[in-house]
Amino acid sequence: MTVSIDAALEIGAPVTPDVPPAGPSLAADGTWWADLRAGLGSRPSLSPVTLLDVAREFAVGASAPVGPDGRPPTERTYDLLHSNDLFEVWVIHWPQGGHLELHDHGGSSGAFWVVDGTLEECHFRPGRDHGRFAHRCHAASSGVGFDARYVHDVVNGGQTPATSVHAYSPPMTSMNFYRCEGASLVAERTDYRMDAAWTP
Ligand SMILES: [Fe+2]
Repeated sequence: MTVSIDAALEIGAPVTPDVPPAGPSLAADGTWWADLRAGLGSRPSLSPVTLLDVAREFAVGASAPVGPDGRPPTERTYDLLHSNDLFEVWVIHWPQGGHLELHDHGGSSGAFWVVDGTLEECHFRPGRDHGRFAHRCHAASSGVGFDARYVHDVVNGGQTPATSVHAYSPPMTSMNFYRCEGASLVAERTDYRMDAAWTP
């Protein structure tokens, strides 16, 4: 796993990295998300509202990935439903307790639509949430769209498997993963799409 960021984001306040980061960085003036977006250059992107529409459209008839025995897998699994230069769409199966830790989307905007089951998320967005996390549940036939500033974790805390359809624009090239440390977000690592261990 590539570790390319070593910087802390103090929630609701300017950021001072502990050491000069090598590679992508969280900007010291709090506009770290703009750096993420800039990393994607001038690639066009769809809005969160449009992406939520895309996810909802692809959710029609979408089915969860199945294991070799035709049964729901016991691990979080995913299939790419569609991809072009502007956006991509994934279907993800979440077993009970399946989760993806705190992450951003590498400067892409996104959306997800819950097909079956219930997903819970804690999300963080500078400005709108005044630097605080918020928890919410997404039941079947509901979803959320988000811009490049969105940081969240997602878990299936329900009693049944869950299926969701995710849309990202432009297609993701990387994801940064964080941990909470007191009132701070600490970027721990960056996963790149070219990595064998890449998961959307
Ligand atoms: Fe995400």
